Amino acid sequence: MAIIDELNALCAQTLAQISEAPDSAALEGVRVAVLGKKGTLTGYLRSMGQLAKEERAAVGKAVNDARNQVESALEERKAQLASQELAARMEAEAVDVTLPGRVQQMGTRHLISAITDEIADIFLGLGYTVGTGPEVETDWYNFTALNAPKDHPSRSMQDTFYVIDRTGEQTAVRGESDVLLRTQTSGVQVHTMEDQKPPIYIIAPGKVYRRDVADPSHLPQFHQVEGLVVDENITFGDLKGTLDYFCKALFGPDRSTRFRAHFFPFTEPSAEADVSCGVCGGTGHLHDGERCRMCKGTGWIEILGCGMVDPNVLEACGVDPEKYSGFAFGIGVERVACLKYNVPDLRMLLEGDMRFLRQF
Ligand code: DAH
Repeated sequence: MAIIDELNALCAQTLAQISEAPDSAALEGVRVAVLGKKGTLTGYLRSMGQLAKEERAAVGKAVNDARNQVESALEERKAQLASQELAARMEAEAVDVTLPGRVQQMGTRHLISAITDEIADIFLGLGYTVGTGPEVETDWYNFTALNAPKDHPSRSMQDTFYVIDRTGEQTAVRGESDVLLRTQTSGVQVHTMEDQKPPIYIIAPGKVYRRDVADPSHLPQFHQVEGLVVDENITFGDLKGTLDYFCKALFGPDRSTRFRAHFFPFTEPSAEADVSCGVCGGTGHLHDGERCRMCKGTGWIEILGCGMVDPNVLEACGVDPEKYSGFAFGIGVERVACLKYNVPDLRMLLEGDMRFLRQF
């Protein structure tokens, strides 16, 4: 019977397609094309009614045979493909535990933060506490209360960043007091004396700003640690003893200090403190007799400004200069960092080069 031959051919062709189906999706395509609602084998089942009675039994059997064969072949191929696909996925998604891990790069503390803390720790050990003040400051705190005469050169636009309002006018606070970026941490002395009664023993680390172009020894933004002591019977001897102790604690017990007369508006008398040079041992020359470049042959390196708090400053801050006296000092953090680690150019501190920063 022609129809039976057709069915056999369709069955053989379908079995071949099933065994060749490359993946589950292709196999499902074959199933739908043959056994789906509009499938070829389904078509034969549907058209059974139109057959002559005597043909029906034989054709019905052939269709059923074909369907059984196709269904069991589908089942078998489906299981086969599923296990192949699972194996392929496990292979593809496997974690290779022998690969090197991805290491998270850890940052380090910046040298400036480390030195600031080192300086602070020395004074905290002496019983000082940490004071703070704003970086955006008024003329009163940065200059006037600190006894800076109106015509002092540090007040000129050359050195100070002034805060200008939208009209281009300098912002006025407290009547005539300009707003500026503090040029020194000394203003914290004023804030502290306004806020607390003596005895005062504080240090104030912080950022300061000056209108300088960055070069090997200048930065427009740098750090200072201010110090202030106000108590009864404080003398220049206390200042010297404290700062000598500080220098030895920071640079080593073999270092000595000297104090040279200097001028600061807020202290009287004022001095600059030098520490003996660590490279030449304070002699000014190296073993071979060559002049020491670190201290330029002097044997000394300047590290801070200091002095006895001027009575005018105490008075401006509401402290009775008859009862109290005090000393103050200001340390340049970048300068100390460079001296301690022989950094030749201050700008290296700002470049963020990890090869440089990781050394400390
Ligand atoms: N403020 C000074 C400066 O920026 C440093 C200084 C000197 C601070 C003497 C002081 C001091 O407290 O007594 O150059």
